[in-house]
Amino acid sequence: MSVELRNITKVFKDHDDKSKEFTAVDNVNIKINDGEMVTFLGPSGCGKTTTLRIISGFETQTEGDVFIEGENVNNLPANKRDSSMVFQSYAIFPHLNVEQNIGFGLELKGMPKDKIKKEVSEIMKIMGLSDLANRSPSQLSGGQQQRVALARAIVNKPKVLLFDEPLSNLDAKLREQMRTEIRRIQQKFGITSIYVTHDQIEAMTVSDRIMVMDKGVIQQIGTPFEIYSRPVNFFVADFIGRANFFHVDVVSNNRNSLKVRFSNGKELEIASFVPTVEGKGTVVIRPEGLVLQAASEDSLFSGEIASAVYLGSTIEYEIDLMQEKNRIIAISYNPVKEGIRKVGDKVGIEFDSISAHVVPL
Ligand SMILES: Nc1ncnc2c1ncn2[C@@H]1O[C@H](COP(=O)(O)OP(=O)(O)O)[C@@H](O)[C@H]1O
Ligand SMILES: [Mg+2]
Repeated sequence: MSVELRNITKVFKDHDDKSKEFTAVDNVNIKINDGEMVTFLGPSGCGKTTTLRIISGFETQTEGDVFIEGENVNNLPANKRDSSMVFQSYAIFPHLNVEQNIGFGLELKGMPKDKIKKEVSEIMKIMGLSDLANRSPSQLSGGQQQRVALARAIVNKPKVLLFDEPLSNLDAKLREQMRTEIRRIQQKFGITSIYVTHDQIEAMTVSDRIMVMDKGVIQQIGTPFEIYSRPVNFFVADFIGRANFFHVDVVSNNRNSLKVRFSNGKELEIASFVPTVEGKGTVVIRPEGLVLQAASEDSLFSGEIASAVYLGSTIEYEIDLMQEKNRIIAISYNPVKEGIRKVGDKVGIEFDSISAHVVPL
């Protein structure tokens, strides 16, 4: 089932001073395809939960339209929208055991007992919960409770599955396991899903596409690859992963690339996926796109190692550039071959220019 948001805006009025308004969601447009998993990603307070609640019907938009399966659901109450929500607080019932918790929604629907038993046992098998059927929630770990909450949402066969930071209460290792699990289950059932998180790694691992938001406004919608390797602006480049930034003058504008001049006067041809960068721009390059060499006049940049963190398979360097005030990050993925540099070492720095691109200033 597809979900479409058209020109969705949400304005909250201040509790104390009704004349004060706050735009939490600002003209959001996105179409989520049948079976797709899309993540709303952005810092706390950027409007993710509000947007999700508008889809579920728990919140009403100030402007715009919500479509589920092509049908306008603006006037459809939450309980008629056929969506299921999974929260970070698992909201499972403490007085019911695992099996009863999962079957609760089906019972409400009036499904016959033997059919419930069958459906619940099937989902418990898929989710690895069969051995825990008779446990009460207090006897479950956080990860198991979250799995029960997910099973309970899925057993209802909702048209749309909505997740609001479902893993925030779990420790790092469990989070990793559960996000893989969520993705596996989502793909197995092909349920159209919307996942809210402020964690970029989580977004990268579970999503078909990511919608990056800031201050209620969509910054970019794209696959994890596009978001990471072709961020359209500084915010996205900075929020997703780590990046180095260089302010440059745009010297000339070719079809898919720009000639830019760095502050040290050197010029380079760099790809641009954003159509209109003129005058001044920012070059974005990920740490893995920098190439370190022996110090030399001919290098694009010269720098001095400020810190070197040896992590076994990689070394992460912070490097102070000589000609401009800029501390950059570089990662060496083959320390044995490339050599290990020490703090204070002088290095030359080149770009792997396919890993660099230009965004507006
Ligand atoms: N019921 C409300 N009344 C007033 N402001 C709200 C209400 N709900 C959310 N907000 C504000 O809207 C903004 C977006 O909130 P939210 O959607 O919860 O952000 P996120 O989920 O991205 O952290 C925040 O600044 C929040 O304080
Ligand atoms: Mg939220």
